[in-house]
Amino acid sequence: MSDYTKPALEDLIRTIPDYPKQGIQFRDVTTLIADPVGLRTAIDGLLWPFLKQNVDVVVGIEARGFILGGAVAHELGRGFVPIRKKGKLPGKTIGQDYTLEYGVDTIEIHADAIAPGQRVLLIDDLIATGGTADAGLELLRRSQASVVGAAFIVDLPDLGGSKKLRDKGVLVHSLLSYA
Ligand code: PRP
Ligand code: ADE
Repeated sequence: MSDYTKPALEDLIRTIPDYPKQGIQFRDVTTLIADPVGLRTAIDGLLWPFLKQNVDVVVGIEARGFILGGAVAHELGRGFVPIRKKGKLPGKTIGQDYTLEYGVDTIEIHADAIAPGQRVLLIDDLIATGGTADAGLELLRRSQASVVGAAFIVDLPDLGGSKKLRDKGVLVHSLLSYA
C-alpha cells in the first residue's frame, strides 16, 4: 500500500507578498505546475466541465495561460491559439487595452486565428479584477467566436472579476478561490 497522499492544489500554490507591487499578495502557480500530480490535477480540473461542450479551439492568455491552455488543448485533442501582450505576435492582430490589479496593458490575438462561429474555451491561471479575461473575451467577440466558457485555477472573488464575467453570461469555472 502506498503512503502517497495527493497534494491539495492550494498547498502547491505559493503566495509571494508585495509582488509585483507593495500590498499585492501574488498567487504563484509556478510551484503547482512544477509538481507532476499538481499539473495533472489542475489540467483535469480545468477541462472536465467542457468535455461534452464541443470545444473547437482552446485560447490561452500570456503567460501562464499558455502552459495550461496548451495542455488542455492537447487533452481535448484540439488546437491552441495564443493571446499575447502587445507587439509579440508576428501577423496582423487585433488588440484590446485593459486594466488589472496592478497596472494597465494591451493584449492581442491574430486577426485570422479564430474562424467565425468557432467554439472557444478561454484559459488563464488566475482571475482577479477580470480586466485581462474581459479583454480576452472582447477579442474573441470581435473574432466572432462562440465562447463556451472561461477556466482558471485561481479566483480572487473579492476583486470582482468572476462575477463581472458571470453577469455577462460567461460560464466561469475555477478550481479554488482566495477570499
Ligand atoms: C496575471 C494573471 C492573469 C491576470 C489576472 O497576469 O496571469 O492573466 O494577471 O488579473 P486580472 O483579472 O486583474 O486582469 P499578469 O498580468 O501578471 O501577466 P503575466 O502572465 O505576463 O505575468
Ligand atoms: N493577477 C492579478 N492579481 C494577481 C495576484 N494577486 N496573484 C497572481 N496573479 C495576479
